[in-house]
Amino acid sequence: MLKLLFYSILLGLSVGIAHAADPFPQGDAVIGKAMVEKNCIACHASRFGGDGSEIYTREDHRVKSPPALIAQIRSCNTNLGLKWFEDEELHVASYLNKTYYKFEK
Ligand code: HEC
Repeated sequence: MLKLLFYSILLGLSVGIAHAADPFPQGDAVIGKAMVEKNCIACHASRFGGDGSEIYTREDHRVKSPPALIAQIRSCNTNLGLKWFEDEELHVASYLNKTYYKFEK
């Protein structure tokens, strides 16, 4: 019984730590990836070449923090008339962050 308690505390702690290192814990990166591939990459690739990912990784890229990433996604969302909901923006934020930006909080 005590052992079980010990393991559940350990598990709780590690889940807590994993979440602390992810600024978009509510986002689902797998869903976000599909959304970006469908709506965003073609235009980025036409301007930056390759698979379009250089837009996020170029030296003077604009997004420097999680709030800036959400703000950028929101303005693209609005400009393009995609009508994504807030939870959908979080999926995209989660994907772009895990793949490119790697902000930890
Ligand atoms: C019609 C073309 C176009 C489409 C479609 C588009 N973007 Fe962009 N996006 C751009 C351009 C151009 C820039 C660079 C702006 C700059 O450097 O000032 C950019 C920049 C960005 C950046 C900032 C990169 C950085 O760190 O500098 C993010 C994030 C981004 N777009 C996300 C998205 C997402 C998410 C979508 C899909 C919803 C999307 N974009 C759709 C043209 C587009």
